[in-house]
Amino acid sequence: MQLQSVLLSLFLATAVVAKGDANKTLSTAGECKQMKQLNNLVELAANTTKLDKVTKGNATKAAEIQAKASTASTELSTLQSNTTLMSACAVINAAQDEEDQCQETFILQKFVAFAANTTAVSAATKDNATKAAEIQTKASAASTKLAELTSNSTLQAACPAVAQKDECKIMSGLQKFVDVANNQTKLDKLTNGNTTKEDSIKAKAAIAQTKLTAMMSNSTLVSACQSLMTSQDGTTTSQAAASSSSAAAKKSAAVIVKGTSAVGAVFSTMIVVAMGMFML
Ligand SMILES: *[C@@H]1O[C@H](CO)[C@@H](O)[C@H](O)[C@H]1NC(C)=O
Ligand SMILES: *[C@@H]1O[C@H](CO)[C@@H](O)[C@H](O)[C@H]1NC(C)=O
Ligand SMILES: *[C@@H]1O[C@H](CO)[C@@H](O)[C@H](O)[C@H]1NC(C)=O
Ligand SMILES: *[C@@H]1O[C@H](CO)[C@@H](O)[C@H](O)[C@H]1NC(C)=O
Ligand SMILES: *[C@@H]1O[C@H](CO)[C@@H](O)[C@H](O)[C@H]1NC(C)=O
Ligand SMILES: *[C@@H]1O[C@H](CO)[C@@H](O)[C@H](O)[C@H]1NC(C)=O
Ligand SMILES: *[C@@H]1O[C@H](CO)[C@@H](O)[C@H](O)[C@H]1NC(C)=O
Ligand SMILES: *[C@@H]1O[C@H](CO)[C@@H](O)[C@H](O)[C@H]1NC(C)=O
Ligand SMILES: *[C@@H]1O[C@H](CO)[C@@H](O)[C@H](O)[C@H]1NC(C)=O
Ligand SMILES: *[C@@H]1O[C@H](CO)[C@@H](O)[C@H](O)[C@H]1NC(C)=O
Repeated sequence: MQLQSVLLSLFLATAVVAKGDANKTLSTAGECKQMKQLNNLVELAANTTKLDKVTKGNATKAAEIQAKASTASTELSTLQSNTTLMSACAVINAAQDEEDQCQETFILQKFVAFAANTTAVSAATKDNATKAAEIQTKASAASTKLAELTSNSTLQAACPAVAQKDECKIMSGLQKFVDVANNQTKLDKLTNGNTTKEDSIKAKAAIAQTKLTAMMSNSTLVSACQSLMTSQDGTTTSQAAASSSSAAAKKSAAVIVKGTSAVGAVFSTMIVVAMGMFML
């Protein structure tokens, strides 16, 4: 469930990025994120090894990146000269790092559990012993990293709240998916009236509804999610935007955003449906 939530946060972050296309002044969290990105660019341009790897040895491309980094460096200095912003970012980034580490903990726990389950491994590798051995090697590295993360009691104390937030996001995602499936107009638009596709979505939505109902029967969880929403209303979007800091996440976010601006509303409905199915 937590791995899905990582993708879900990416999805939420993406939705925010997509909305932010218009000229909106950035929130403080947004500015912190921008600083991180500018810094990444400056670091990339300064590291010839990395630059060479990214550009696959294309000198023209490398020069382009360096020119962009030069502008970025100026922007970064301006932002960094704002001490109010810098201290706010220190707090925001620490919270973000903590959350990222919790998410990493969840993913590693899931992976280690999977690797220890011979039935699951042989199914996933289709009984390929080489592949199974590769998984064991990775699981060994994962265990080491996991031990390091779980030994940090400060971090572990913060993680249950992060897991709960993930559950809230999953509930919200499932609800959105069910809403789409219950809206014939949206469904028609999405499937171009293909009833086979519609039926398949409706069948998945029925499963989603069952899962949602089960989750919502936990009143502790529901009230926790409600208070999270009220307390974070207004800040959630910026926090979501500040998450998913990994390069891979950013890359796919960029791809999704591109698609979003091109296709618009139907595309975002599609994301809702895709995510909903994914969460089952
Ligand atoms: C967005 O910002 C740019 C540069 O700051 C400005 O030239 C442009 O007019 C703005 N667009 C809108 C829609 O406000
Ligand atoms: C440059 O990037 C490489 C590869 O990503 C990394 O191993 C190395 O530590 C970096 N060098 C510096 C000076 O940051
Ligand atoms: C190198 O990058 C430039 C700019 O991105 C691109 O136009 C060009 O086709 C690339 N050259 C090769 C050999 O890939
Ligand atoms: C410094 O950053 C803070 C927080 O983002 C902002 O409110 C303030 O206007 C900035 N000050 C300057 C001089 O840009
Ligand atoms: C433990 O985790 C917290 C939160 O991520 C972090 O601030 C702290 O530096 C970590 N402590 C150690 C010893 O790694
Ligand atoms: C192992 O994986 C299988 C197939 O995914 C699953 O049905 C089973 O419950 C798992 N066993 C344990 C002990 O988690
Ligand atoms: C098993 O997996 C390895 C490594 O991924 C691959 O090279 C090999 O072809 C696979 N063997 C079979 C019989 O599929
Ligand atoms: C169904 O979706 C359409 C188009 O997105 C929207 O205008 C309408 O309000 C929705 N209907 C309901 C009952 O939510
Ligand atoms: C409707 O969707 C199904 C499943 O994706 C597909 O197999 C079928 O060809 C589609 N029918 C039409 C008329 O496009
Ligand atoms: C209900 O949700 C809370 C908060 O997320 C969790 O600690 C608890 O284990 C859940 N109870 C059940 C019965 O799933």
